[in-house]
Amino acid sequence: MTNKKTLIRNATVVLPDEILRTSVLINGSTLAAVDAAVHASADEVVEAAGLHLLPGVIDDQVHFREPGLTHKEDLAHATRACAKGGVTTFLEMPNTAPATTTQARLLEKLALAAEHSLVNYGFYVGATPQNLDELKRAQRTPGIKIFIGSSTGDLLVDQQEALERIFAETCLPITAHCEDEATVRANRQRWSGVSDVAVHSKIRDHAAARIATQRALDLARRHQHRFHVLHVSTGDETDLLADSAPWITAEVCPHHLLFNIQDYPRLGSLIQMNPSVKTAEDNRRLWEALRQGRLQVVATDHAPHTWEEKQQPYPQSPSGLPAVENSLALMLDQMHRGRCTLAQVVHWMCEAPARVWDIVNKGCIREGYDADLVLVDLNRRQQVRNEGQQTKCGWSPWHGTELQGWAVRTWVRGQEVYRDGRFDTSRRGAEALYDHARGGYWATA
Ligand code: DOR
Repeated sequence: MTNKKTLIRNATVVLPDEILRTSVLINGSTLAAVDAAVHASADEVVEAAGLHLLPGVIDDQVHFREPGLTHKEDLAHATRACAKGGVTTFLEMPNTAPATTTQARLLEKLALAAEHSLVNYGFYVGATPQNLDELKRAQRTPGIKIFIGSSTGDLLVDQQEALERIFAETCLPITAHCEDEATVRANRQRWSGVSDVAVHSKIRDHAAARIATQRALDLARRHQHRFHVLHVSTGDETDLLADSAPWITAEVCPHHLLFNIQDYPRLGSLIQMNPSVKTAEDNRRLWEALRQGRLQVVATDHAPHTWEEKQQPYPQSPSGLPAVENSLALMLDQMHRGRCTLAQVVHWMCEAPARVWDIVNKGCIREGYDADLVLVDLNRRQQVRNEGQQTKCGWSPWHGTELQGWAVRTWVRGQEVYRDGRFDTSRRGAEALYDHARGGYWATA
Protein backbone atom coordinates (compact mmCIF):
# COMPACT_ATOMS: atom_id res chain seq x y z
CA MET A 1 0.00 0.00 0.00
CA THR A 2 1.49 3.35 -1.04
CA ASN A 3 1.09 6.64 0.77
CA LYS A 4 -0.12 8.38 -2.34
CA LYS A 5 -2.24 11.46 -1.67
CA THR A 6 -5.22 12.08 -3.92
CA LEU A 7 -7.28 15.27 -3.71
CA ILE A 8 -10.81 15.00 -5.10
CA ARG A 9 -11.59 18.63 -5.63
CA ASN A 10 -14.94 20.43 -5.56
CA ALA A 11 -17.14 17.35 -5.65
CA THR A 12 -20.65 17.32 -4.25
CA VAL A 13 -19.94 14.98 -1.35
CA VAL A 14 -22.60 12.84 0.31
CA LEU A 15 -21.68 12.95 4.01
CA PRO A 16 -23.60 11.14 6.77
CA ASP A 17 -25.73 14.18 7.66
CA GLU A 18 -25.43 16.59 4.74
CA ILE A 19 -24.54 16.91 1.09
CA LEU A 20 -21.75 19.43 0.70
CA ARG A 21 -19.75 20.91 -2.18
CA THR A 22 -16.21 20.34 -0.93
CA SER A 23 -12.90 18.56 -1.44
CA VAL A 24 -11.77 15.21 -0.03
CA LEU A 25 -8.18 14.17 0.60
CA ILE A 26 -7.16 10.52 0.45
CA ASN A 27 -3.88 9.59 2.12
CA GLY A 28 -2.86 6.01 1.35
CA SER A 29 -5.91 3.87 2.11
CA THR A 30 -7.64 6.38 4.38
CA LEU A 31 -9.84 9.44 4.14
CA ALA A 32 -7.48 12.01 5.61
CA ALA A 33 -9.81 15.02 5.30
CA VAL A 34 -13.41 15.33 4.17
CA ASP A 35 -13.45 19.10 4.01
CA ALA A 36 -9.96 19.61 2.67
CA ALA A 37 -8.51 22.89 1.46
CA VAL A 38 -8.94 23.15 -2.32
CA HIS A 39 -5.18 23.64 -2.66
CA ALA A 40 -4.09 20.90 -0.26
CA SER A 41 -0.92 19.31 -1.59
CA ALA A 42 -1.46 15.95 -3.27
CA ASP A 43 0.19 13.60 -5.76
CA GLU A 44 -2.94 13.57 -7.88
CA VAL A 45 -5.76 16.09 -8.15
CA VAL A 46 -9.12 14.94 -9.46
CA GLU A 47 -11.26 17.83 -10.67
CA ALA A 48 -14.74 16.73 -9.66
CA ALA A 49 -16.88 19.82 -10.10
CA GLY A 50 -20.33 18.73 -11.27
CA LEU A 51 -19.82 15.18 -9.98
CA HIS A 52 -21.06 13.52 -6.77
CA LEU A 53 -18.77 11.63 -4.40
CA LEU A 54 -20.43 8.73 -2.55
CA PRO A 55 -19.12 6.06 -0.19
CA GLY A 56 -18.47 2.83 -2.10
CA VAL A 57 -21.48 0.53 -2.26
CA ILE A 58 -21.49 -2.51 0.06
CA ASP A 59 -23.43 -5.38 -1.53
CA ASP A 60 -24.15 -7.95 1.15
CA GLN A 61 -25.71 -10.59 -1.08
CA VAL A 62 -23.90 -11.85 -4.16
CA HIS A 63 -23.17 -15.23 -5.76
CA PHE A 64 -19.79 -15.05 -7.50
CA ARG A 65 -19.66 -18.79 -8.27
CA GLU A 66 -16.02 -19.45 -7.44
CA PRO A 67 -15.04 -22.21 -6.84
CA GLY A 68 -16.81 -24.72 -9.01
CA LEU A 69 -19.30 -22.80 -11.12
CA THR A 70 -16.89 -20.56 -12.97
CA HIS A 71 -18.53 -21.12 -16.34
CA LYS A 72 -21.24 -18.74 -14.99
CA GLU A 73 -19.08 -16.19 -13.17
CA ASP A 74 -15.73 -15.82 -11.41
CA LEU A 75 -14.13 -13.40 -9.01
CA ALA A 76 -12.12 -11.59 -11.68
CA HIS A 77 -15.18 -10.81 -13.85
CA ALA A 78 -17.56 -10.22 -10.96
CA THR A 79 -15.27 -7.81 -9.16
CA ARG A 80 -14.59 -5.83 -12.34
CA ALA A 81 -18.37 -5.59 -12.55
CA CYS A 82 -18.36 -4.34 -8.93
CA ALA A 83 -15.72 -1.69 -9.67
CA LYS A 84 -17.66 -0.48 -12.71
CA GLY A 85 -20.87 -0.33 -10.68
CA GLY A 86 -19.35 1.54 -7.72
CA VAL A 87 -19.45 -1.53 -5.44
CA THR A 88 -16.32 -1.54 -3.27
CA THR A 89 -17.23 -4.37 -0.88
CA PHE A 90 -19.18 -7.61 -1.32
CA LEU A 91 -20.30 -10.41 0.95
CA GLU A 92 -20.68 -13.67 -0.93
CA MET A 93 -23.04 -16.58 -0.46
CA PRO A 94 -21.97 -20.18 0.27
CA ASN A 95 -23.78 -22.06 -2.54
CA THR A 96 -20.65 -22.57 -4.63
CA ALA A 97 -19.30 -26.03 -5.57
CA PRO A 98 -18.30 -27.27 -3.10
CA ALA A 99 -20.55 -25.27 -0.79
CA THR A 100 -18.80 -23.17 1.88
CA THR A 101 -19.85 -25.24 4.86
CA THR A 102 -16.54 -25.63 6.70
CA GLN A 103 -13.79 -23.32 7.93
CA ALA A 104 -11.37 -25.00 5.52
CA ARG A 105 -13.57 -24.09 2.54
CA LEU A 106 -14.00 -20.58 3.86
CA LEU A 107 -10.22 -20.21 3.98
CA GLU A 108 -9.98 -21.51 0.40
CA LYS A 109 -12.40 -18.82 -0.75
CA LEU A 110 -10.50 -16.13 1.12
CA ALA A 111 -7.31 -17.27 -0.61
CA LEU A 112 -9.00 -17.14 -4.03
CA ALA A 113 -10.27 -13.64 -3.32
CA ALA A 114 -6.85 -12.46 -2.13
CA GLU A 115 -5.60 -13.44 -5.56
CA HIS A 116 -8.49 -12.35 -7.78
CA SER A 117 -10.74 -9.77 -6.10
CA LEU A 118 -10.49 -6.13 -7.13
CA VAL A 119 -12.69 -5.02 -4.22
CA ASN A 120 -13.07 -5.80 -0.50
CA TYR A 121 -14.60 -9.15 0.33
CA GLY A 122 -16.22 -11.40 2.91
CA PHE A 123 -17.78 -14.87 2.66
CA TYR A 124 -20.68 -16.37 4.58
CA VAL A 125 -20.54 -19.89 5.99
CA GLY A 126 -23.44 -22.09 4.88
CA ALA A 127 -25.60 -24.10 7.27
CA THR A 128 -26.48 -27.75 6.72
CA PRO A 129 -28.47 -30.02 9.03
CA GLN A 130 -25.16 -31.60 10.11
CA ASN A 131 -22.52 -28.87 10.42
CA LEU A 132 -23.43 -27.21 13.73
CA ASP A 133 -19.91 -27.64 15.08
CA GLU A 134 -18.44 -25.87 12.05
CA LEU A 135 -20.95 -23.05 12.47
CA LYS A 136 -20.01 -22.67 16.14
CA ARG A 137 -16.31 -22.48 15.30
CA ALA A 138 -16.47 -20.40 12.12
CA GLN A 139 -14.19 -17.36 11.96
CA ARG A 140 -13.30 -14.66 9.44
CA THR A 141 -16.89 -14.57 8.17
CA PRO A 142 -19.75 -12.05 8.44
CA GLY A 143 -22.16 -14.77 9.48
CA ILE A 144 -24.16 -17.91 8.83
CA LYS A 145 -26.36 -18.30 5.77
CA ILE A 146 -29.34 -20.64 6.02
CA PHE A 147 -31.39 -21.68 3.02
CA ILE A 148 -34.68 -22.28 4.86
CA GLY A 149 -36.03 -22.96 1.38
CA SER A 150 -33.88 -24.52 -1.32
CA SER A 151 -32.63 -22.51 -4.28
CA THR A 152 -29.57 -22.95 -6.55
CA GLY A 153 -27.39 -25.75 -5.11
CA ASP A 154 -28.26 -28.27 -2.43
CA LEU A 155 -28.06 -26.22 0.76
CA LEU A 156 -31.26 -26.59 2.78
CA VAL A 157 -32.13 -26.61 6.47
CA ASP A 158 -35.88 -26.80 7.02
CA GLN A 159 -36.19 -29.24 9.92
CA GLN A 160 -37.38 -27.30 12.98
CA GLU A 161 -35.04 -29.06 15.38
CA ALA A 162 -31.96 -28.26 13.29
CA LEU A 163 -33.04 -24.63 12.95
CA GLU A 164 -33.67 -24.32 16.69
CA ARG A 165 -30.18 -25.60 17.45
CA ILE A 166 -28.50 -23.25 14.98
CA PHE A 167 -30.30 -20.25 16.47
CA ALA A 168 -29.72 -21.44 20.04
CA GLU A 169 -26.12 -22.60 19.89
CA THR A 170 -24.24 -20.35 17.46
CA CYS A 171 -23.01 -16.80 18.03
CA LEU A 172 -22.45 -15.36 14.56
CA PRO A 173 -25.20 -13.29 12.93
CA ILE A 174 -27.61 -15.41 10.88
CA THR A 175 -29.11 -14.53 7.52
CA ALA A 176 -31.63 -16.59 5.58
CA HIS A 177 -33.29 -17.29 2.28
CA CYS A 178 -36.93 -17.51 3.35
CA GLU A 179 -39.24 -19.55 1.11
CA ASP A 180 -41.21 -22.38 2.67
CA GLU A 181 -40.02 -25.67 1.21
CA ALA A 182 -43.27 -27.59 1.85
CA THR A 183 -45.37 -24.88 0.19
CA VAL A 184 -43.05 -24.71 -2.82
CA ARG A 185 -43.10 -28.51 -3.21
CA ALA A 186 -46.91 -28.67 -3.03
CA ASN A 187 -47.23 -25.84 -5.54
CA ARG A 188 -44.69 -27.48 -7.84
CA GLN A 189 -46.79 -30.65 -7.81
CA ARG A 190 -49.94 -28.68 -8.52
CA TRP A 191 -48.41 -26.83 -11.49
CA SER A 192 -46.26 -29.66 -12.83
CA GLY A 193 -46.20 -29.87 -16.61
CA VAL A 194 -46.64 -26.11 -17.09
CA SER A 195 -43.69 -24.72 -19.03
CA ASP A 196 -44.72 -21.03 -19.07
CA VAL A 197 -42.11 -19.42 -16.82
CA ALA A 198 -44.76 -17.16 -15.29
CA VAL A 199 -45.85 -20.19 -13.26
CA HIS A 200 -42.64 -19.70 -11.25
CA SER A 201 -44.42 -16.96 -9.29
CA LYS A 202 -47.32 -19.34 -8.57
CA ILE A 203 -44.95 -22.05 -7.35
CA ARG A 204 -42.79 -19.70 -5.26
CA ASP A 205 -45.85 -17.73 -4.21
CA HIS A 206 -46.73 -15.15 -1.56
CA ALA A 207 -47.54 -17.82 1.00
CA ALA A 208 -44.14 -19.52 0.57
CA ALA A 209 -42.35 -16.25 1.32
CA ARG A 210 -44.63 -15.20 4.17
CA ILE A 211 -44.61 -18.57 5.99
CA ALA A 212 -40.82 -18.92 5.89
CA THR A 213 -40.14 -15.32 6.91
CA GLN A 214 -42.61 -15.65 9.79
CA ARG A 215 -40.89 -18.85 10.88
CA ALA A 216 -37.42 -17.31 10.76
CA LEU A 217 -38.54 -14.18 12.62
CA ASP A 218 -40.08 -16.35 15.30
CA LEU A 219 -36.76 -18.21 15.75
CA ALA A 220 -34.76 -14.98 15.85
CA ARG A 221 -37.12 -13.40 18.39
CA ARG A 222 -37.29 -16.38 20.73
CA HIS A 223 -33.54 -16.97 20.65
CA GLN A 224 -32.76 -13.24 20.58
CA HIS A 225 -30.32 -14.02 17.81
CA ARG A 226 -29.00 -11.33 15.47
CA PHE A 227 -30.86 -12.00 12.20
CA HIS A 228 -31.09 -10.50 8.70
CA VAL A 229 -33.86 -11.41 6.23
CA LEU A 230 -32.57 -11.61 2.66
CA HIS A 231 -34.43 -10.45 -0.46
CA VAL A 232 -37.91 -9.70 0.89
CA SER A 233 -40.28 -9.98 -2.09
CA THR A 234 -43.79 -9.38 -0.73
CA GLY A 235 -45.70 -6.61 0.97
CA ASP A 236 -46.97 -9.16 3.50
CA GLU A 237 -43.44 -9.84 4.77
CA THR A 238 -42.89 -6.13 5.31
CA ASP A 239 -45.92 -6.17 7.63
CA LEU A 240 -44.22 -8.92 9.63
CA LEU A 241 -41.18 -6.68 9.95
CA ALA A 242 -43.10 -3.78 11.48
CA ASP A 243 -42.05 -3.19 15.11
CA SER A 244 -39.47 -5.94 14.89
CA ALA A 245 -36.77 -6.34 17.48
CA PRO A 246 -33.68 -4.15 17.09
CA TRP A 247 -31.53 -7.21 16.37
CA ILE A 248 -33.63 -8.04 13.28
CA THR A 249 -32.96 -6.35 9.93
CA ALA A 250 -34.05 -7.00 6.36
CA GLU A 251 -33.29 -6.16 2.76
CA VAL A 252 -34.78 -5.88 -0.69
CA CYS A 253 -33.25 -6.28 -4.16
CA PRO A 254 -33.65 -3.90 -7.12
CA HIS A 255 -35.36 -6.67 -9.13
CA HIS A 256 -38.11 -7.07 -6.52
CA LEU A 257 -38.59 -3.29 -6.43
CA LEU A 258 -38.65 -2.91 -10.22
CA PHE A 259 -39.94 -6.12 -11.87
CA ASN A 260 -43.25 -7.91 -11.38
CA ILE A 261 -45.31 -10.69 -12.99
CA GLN A 262 -46.38 -8.37 -15.81
CA ASP A 263 -42.76 -8.46 -17.04
CA TYR A 264 -42.72 -12.22 -17.78
CA PRO A 265 -44.07 -11.87 -21.36
CA ARG A 266 -41.23 -9.43 -22.18
CA LEU A 267 -38.35 -10.95 -20.19
CA GLY A 268 -39.29 -14.60 -19.63
CA SER A 269 -36.75 -16.62 -17.67
CA LEU A 270 -34.35 -13.64 -17.45
CA ILE A 271 -36.47 -12.54 -14.47
CA GLN A 272 -36.89 -16.03 -13.05
CA MET A 273 -35.30 -15.84 -9.63
CA ASN A 274 -35.86 -17.04 -6.05
CA PRO A 275 -37.83 -15.57 -4.38
CA SER A 276 -39.92 -14.98 -7.50
CA VAL A 277 -41.11 -11.59 -8.68
CA LYS A 278 -44.55 -10.79 -7.34
CA THR A 279 -47.15 -8.12 -8.25
CA ALA A 280 -47.07 -4.37 -8.96
CA GLU A 281 -48.75 -3.92 -5.56
CA ASP A 282 -45.83 -5.75 -3.94
CA ASN A 283 -43.40 -3.39 -5.73
CA ARG A 284 -45.32 -0.47 -4.24
CA ARG A 285 -45.36 -1.92 -0.73
CA LEU A 286 -41.64 -2.81 -0.83
CA TRP A 287 -40.79 0.79 -1.77
CA GLU A 288 -43.01 2.01 1.05
CA ALA A 289 -41.35 -0.32 3.58
CA LEU A 290 -37.90 0.77 2.41
CA ARG A 291 -38.77 4.45 2.83
CA GLN A 292 -40.29 3.76 6.25
CA GLY A 293 -37.24 1.82 7.46
CA ARG A 294 -38.89 -1.61 7.81
CA LEU A 295 -36.39 -2.71 5.15
CA GLN A 296 -32.95 -1.27 5.78
CA VAL A 297 -30.71 -2.50 2.98
CA VAL A 298 -30.73 -2.67 -0.82
CA ALA A 299 -28.54 -5.53 -2.13
CA THR A 300 -28.51 -7.34 -5.46
CA ASP A 301 -28.51 -11.13 -4.98
CA HIS A 302 -26.30 -11.02 -8.11
CA ALA A 303 -26.77 -14.62 -9.32
CA PRO A 304 -25.51 -15.14 -12.86
CA HIS A 305 -26.27 -18.12 -15.08
CA THR A 306 -25.18 -18.42 -18.69
CA TRP A 307 -27.46 -17.19 -21.46
CA GLU A 308 -27.75 -20.78 -22.76
CA GLU A 309 -28.77 -22.07 -19.32
CA LYS A 310 -31.40 -19.35 -19.05
CA GLN A 311 -32.82 -20.20 -22.51
CA GLN A 312 -33.78 -23.73 -21.45
CA PRO A 313 -37.54 -24.27 -21.09
CA TYR A 314 -39.02 -23.85 -17.60
CA PRO A 315 -38.42 -25.50 -15.15
CA GLN A 316 -34.93 -26.45 -16.46
CA SER A 317 -34.06 -22.72 -16.69
CA PRO A 318 -32.14 -21.80 -13.51
CA SER A 319 -33.16 -19.01 -11.13
CA GLY A 320 -31.09 -15.87 -10.73
CA LEU A 321 -29.91 -12.76 -12.55
CA PRO A 322 -26.78 -10.58 -12.58
CA ALA A 323 -27.06 -7.05 -11.17
CA VAL A 324 -23.94 -5.90 -9.40
CA GLU A 325 -22.72 -3.53 -12.11
CA ASN A 326 -26.07 -1.82 -12.55
CA SER A 327 -27.55 -1.66 -9.04
CA LEU A 328 -26.28 1.81 -8.15
CA ALA A 329 -27.30 3.23 -11.54
CA LEU A 330 -30.74 1.60 -11.17
CA MET A 331 -31.26 3.25 -7.79
CA LEU A 332 -29.91 6.62 -8.93
CA ASP A 333 -32.26 6.45 -11.88
CA GLN A 334 -35.13 5.83 -9.45
CA MET A 335 -34.00 8.91 -7.56
CA HIS A 336 -34.33 10.95 -10.76
CA ARG A 337 -37.84 9.53 -11.13
CA GLY A 338 -38.73 10.87 -7.70
CA ARG A 339 -38.93 7.52 -5.91
CA CYS A 340 -36.25 8.38 -3.33
CA THR A 341 -33.50 10.84 -2.46
CA LEU A 342 -29.76 10.61 -2.99
CA ALA A 343 -29.23 10.43 0.78
CA GLN A 344 -31.62 7.45 0.95
CA VAL A 345 -29.77 5.59 -1.83
CA VAL A 346 -26.49 6.09 0.03
CA HIS A 347 -28.08 5.02 3.29
CA TRP A 348 -29.61 1.82 1.86
CA MET A 349 -26.59 0.76 -0.21
CA CYS A 350 -23.59 1.94 1.85
CA GLU A 351 -24.28 3.01 5.42
CA ALA A 352 -26.94 0.47 6.40
CA PRO A 353 -25.11 -2.64 5.13
CA ALA A 354 -21.99 -1.51 7.01
CA ARG A 355 -24.03 -1.29 10.21
CA VAL A 356 -25.97 -4.51 9.60
CA TRP A 357 -22.78 -6.51 8.94
CA ASP A 358 -20.57 -4.89 11.51
CA ILE A 359 -18.16 -3.50 8.94
CA VAL A 360 -16.08 -0.87 10.70
CA ASN A 361 -14.66 2.20 8.93
CA LYS A 362 -16.75 1.75 5.82
CA GLY A 363 -20.13 2.87 4.50
CA CYS A 364 -19.67 6.61 5.16
CA ILE A 365 -17.44 9.43 3.99
CA ARG A 366 -15.88 10.36 7.30
CA GLU A 367 -12.35 11.31 8.35
CA GLY A 368 -10.33 8.25 9.33
CA TYR A 369 -12.61 5.90 7.40
CA ASP A 370 -11.35 3.74 4.54
CA ALA A 371 -11.12 5.54 1.20
CA ASP A 372 -13.73 3.32 -0.51
CA LEU A 373 -15.32 5.85 -2.81
CA VAL A 374 -17.32 6.20 -6.00
CA LEU A 375 -17.50 9.33 -8.10
CA VAL A 376 -20.84 9.53 -9.86
CA ASP A 377 -22.10 11.58 -12.80
CA LEU A 378 -25.76 12.08 -11.99
CA ASN A 379 -26.41 13.56 -15.42
CA ARG A 380 -24.95 10.73 -17.47
CA ARG A 381 -27.61 8.81 -19.36
CA GLN A 382 -26.52 5.44 -20.63
CA GLN A 383 -28.18 2.27 -21.80
CA VAL A 384 -27.44 -1.05 -20.13
CA ARG A 385 -26.17 -3.23 -22.98
CA ASN A 386 -25.47 -6.97 -22.83
CA GLU A 387 -22.32 -6.47 -24.89
CA GLY A 388 -20.88 -4.02 -22.34
CA GLN A 389 -21.40 -6.16 -19.24
CA GLN A 390 -18.35 -7.20 -17.22
CA THR A 391 -20.11 -10.14 -15.58
CA LYS A 392 -18.93 -13.37 -17.18
CA CYS A 393 -22.48 -14.38 -18.12
CA GLY A 394 -22.59 -11.37 -20.47
CA TRP A 395 -26.25 -10.39 -20.21
CA SER A 396 -28.52 -8.21 -18.10
CA PRO A 397 -32.29 -8.26 -17.66
CA TRP A 398 -32.05 -4.46 -18.03
CA HIS A 399 -30.50 -4.69 -21.54
CA GLY A 400 -31.79 -1.76 -23.60
CA THR A 401 -32.90 0.27 -20.56
CA GLU A 402 -31.53 3.79 -20.33
CA LEU A 403 -30.54 4.81 -16.82
CA GLN A 404 -29.51 8.22 -15.54
CA GLY A 405 -26.69 8.38 -12.95
CA TRP A 406 -23.54 6.30 -13.41
CA ALA A 407 -20.27 5.65 -11.60
CA VAL A 408 -17.32 7.21 -13.43
CA ARG A 409 -14.45 6.45 -11.03
CA THR A 410 -14.11 4.00 -8.13
CA TRP A 411 -11.46 3.78 -5.39
CA VAL A 412 -10.91 0.78 -3.10
CA ARG A 413 -8.96 1.79 0.00
CA GLY A 414 -7.42 4.69 -1.84
CA GLN A 415 -6.48 2.78 -5.00
CA GLU A 416 -8.33 3.72 -8.15
CA VAL A 417 -9.73 0.49 -9.62
CA TYR A 418 -12.08 1.92 -12.25
CA ARG A 419 -12.04 5.01 -14.40
CA ASP A 420 -14.40 5.57 -17.30
CA GLY A 421 -14.45 2.09 -18.75
CA ARG A 422 -10.88 1.14 -17.77
CA PHE A 423 -9.74 -1.03 -14.86
CA ASP A 424 -6.60 -1.20 -12.78
CA THR A 425 -6.51 -4.89 -11.90
CA SER A 426 -3.42 -4.80 -9.71
CA ARG A 427 -5.66 -5.30 -6.61
CA ARG A 428 -3.52 -3.29 -4.27
CA GLY A 429 -6.43 -1.92 -2.24
CA ALA A 430 -8.72 -4.92 -1.79
CA GLU A 431 -8.88 -6.35 1.71
CA ALA A 432 -10.51 -9.24 3.50
CA LEU A 433 -13.07 -8.17 6.07
CA TYR A 434 -13.52 -9.92 9.42
CA ASP A 435 -9.84 -10.76 9.75
CA HIS A 436 -9.79 -9.23 13.20
CA ALA A 437 -11.91 -9.83 16.26
CA ARG A 438 -15.46 -8.55 15.76
CA GLY A 439 -15.82 -5.22 17.45
CA GLY A 440 -18.38 -3.11 15.68
CA TYR A 441 -22.02 -2.27 16.08
CA TRP A 442 -23.43 -5.62 17.11
CA ALA A 443 -20.60 -7.14 19.11
CA THR A 444 -21.95 -8.18 22.47
CA ALA A 445 -19.03 -9.89 24.18
O1 DOR B 1 -32.59 -16.75 -7.81
C1 DOR B 1 -31.71 -17.08 -7.04
N1 DOR B 1 -30.54 -17.55 -7.48
N2 DOR B 1 -31.90 -16.99 -5.71
C2 DOR B 1 -31.04 -17.49 -4.83
O2 DOR B 1 -31.28 -17.39 -3.66
C3 DOR B 1 -29.84 -18.21 -5.29
C4 DOR B 1 -29.43 -17.73 -6.60
C5 DOR B 1 -28.35 -18.54 -7.25
O3 DOR B 1 -27.36 -18.82 -6.58
O4 DOR B 1 -28.47 -18.86 -8.43
